[in-house]
Amino acid sequence: MLGLTIESSCDETSVAILEDGRNVRANIVATQIDIHKMYGGVVPEIASREHISSISQVVEEALQVAKINFSDLDYIGVTYGPGLIGALLVGVSYAKALAYSLNIPIVPTHHIEGHIAANYITHKDLEPEFLALVVSGGHSHLIHVKDYTDFEVIGKTRDDAVGEAFDKVARTLGLGYPGGPEVSKRASEGKPTYSLPKTKFDNLDFSFSGIKTAVINIAHKEGSNLRVNDMCASFENTVCEELVDNTMKAMNILNLNKVVLAGGVSANLHLRHLLSNEAKKMGYECFVPDLKYCTDNAAMIGSAAYYNFISGKKYNIEDKLDLNAVANLNIGK
Ligand code: KG4
Ligand code: ZN
Repeated sequence: MLGLTIESSCDETSVAILEDGRNVRANIVATQIDIHKMYGGVVPEIASREHISSISQVVEEALQVAKINFSDLDYIGVTYGPGLIGALLVGVSYAKALAYSLNIPIVPTHHIEGHIAANYITHKDLEPEFLALVVSGGHSHLIHVKDYTDFEVIGKTRDDAVGEAFDKVARTLGLGYPGGPEVSKRASEGKPTYSLPKTKFDNLDFSFSGIKTAVINIAHKEGSNLRVNDMCASFENTVCEELVDNTMKAMNILNLNKVVLAGGVSANLHLRHLLSNEAKKMGYECFVPDLKYCTDNAAMIGSAAYYNFISGKKYNIEDKLDLNAVANLNIGK
């Protein structure tokens, strides 16, 4: 079964071709990071325009790399939310037109389900059920993955997403966009000598705006005396501990034995090590995605789309011409 999938929810125009949901035949990612860097973050209008100008070329390239023609495809998958509405609409409109012209089904797919599915590509034997810690620029969720298409959110951030906090801290410290990779690099050269607050709730929710504000306040107070690398190490350590503490608590409550990391922040080496080590101590199996599938890419969406397809969440395009993008699409129940 061959599916072509489009991802355009933020600042990467990506097209992938997957065989049977786990075999990546092509995964082309056209990133816009260099353009948005100038503005210190993603500019939605520019993102939409860039998607429009590159999408056809990225589709062509994916077909060439996979060495297939349009006529070989069984379905078209597409991210329809959550994300930037204008950016999503480019992918959704293109996917609808493609499915219509080829007369094959369309499979609308949730972006976060895609991040989780990045692990199915990396770990060919991984199967639900498990707990997923999803950490990206827009989300920090603990999700009980009961089956390939059955999700329940059991904890989430009450304010900033963790990637967003990394990006805001980086901006305060003058480290550019996207902030996560740079904060992480500086952290590896520093020591966690600043004391930063952790927020705890009675349930499994997170909060990252307090720690972000603490970093901003210390940075303003210390000015040029701020030890930037030490601050990055302190921020990274505190945030990762908060994430992993809640994850271990959830594993215990749900009585699960497999934990999966997902989302752009899963590229953070400290988080990968801390989660793997804590899971090992508790006797849990821990899965992290291959680094190339951590940040946004269409291969991960393609894997989630495949499982939607085989579970019947696919649509004859004639019945789905009203498919729309949904900026704040929820996941699970
Ligand atoms: O999943 P993603 O590509 O986009 C969303 O769906 O939001 O995640 C992007 C986020 C950005 O906030 C970026 O700073 C963060 O992932 N990120 C990292 C690292 N690499 C990317 N955060 C911490 N450490 C990293 N190595
Ligand atoms: Zn993402």
